[in-house]
Amino acid sequence: MGVVAGRMVVLVSGSGSNMEALADACGRGEVDAGVVAVVADRDCVGLKAADSRGLQIALLEPAGFDSREQWSEALRDLVAGYEPDLVVSAGFMRILAPPFVDAFYGRLINLHPSLLPAFAGAHAVREALEYGVKVTGSTVHFVDRQVDHGPIIMQKPVPVRAGDDEETLHQRIKALEHRLLPEVCRLWFQGRIHLQGRRVEIQER
Ligand code: GAR
Repeated sequence: MGVVAGRMVVLVSGSGSNMEALADACGRGEVDAGVVAVVADRDCVGLKAADSRGLQIALLEPAGFDSREQWSEALRDLVAGYEPDLVVSAGFMRILAPPFVDAFYGRLINLHPSLLPAFAGAHAVREALEYGVKVTGSTVHFVDRQVDHGPIIMQKPVPVRAGDDEETLHQRIKALEHRLLPEVCRLWFQGRIHLQGRRVEIQER
């Protein structure tokens, strides 16, 4: 790899498979950037995976802080210290409070396992199954002060199959996300994603 142009910080809480897919895409030169740090709110598989890849890691648990605001401020300062161009929330299962969102607005994106605005929140896959939709999917959007609400950058559909349970459906969604998230980051570092109010324009070449 040559000189890394862009700097990404990835936030994780779980298995970190999307962080790994993104790091792999960077390694293949598909995204003109690198993952400069992986930050977690809990000890998780994703953090260990990042560590084994030789990525810089940090753990900041909310326990020990008096409020969500105080934790969010500490998280903001920690992440800002890595001087990211783009902050990627990839399976980060904690609501980011205004101090964090405001600091990075416009360069903070989130990956969500449904076609927003359907099934916002922490149980998107289960709720889509329970509702009985035939198509769900994944969304990458800018983060604003409301949960799973900010301007949508890209969405892709995933079929729900007969016999699916939460696990099988989520695996199918993740397989799609492993391509979707790097694609959005690639476009971002090419300067082709333009935020205009609630709408996002993706510039043709
Ligand atoms: C992904 O499916 C992502 O969309 C979802 O968590 C998973 C993380 O997987 N995010 C949310 O549910 C956010 N509300 P990973 O840890 O294997 O990348």
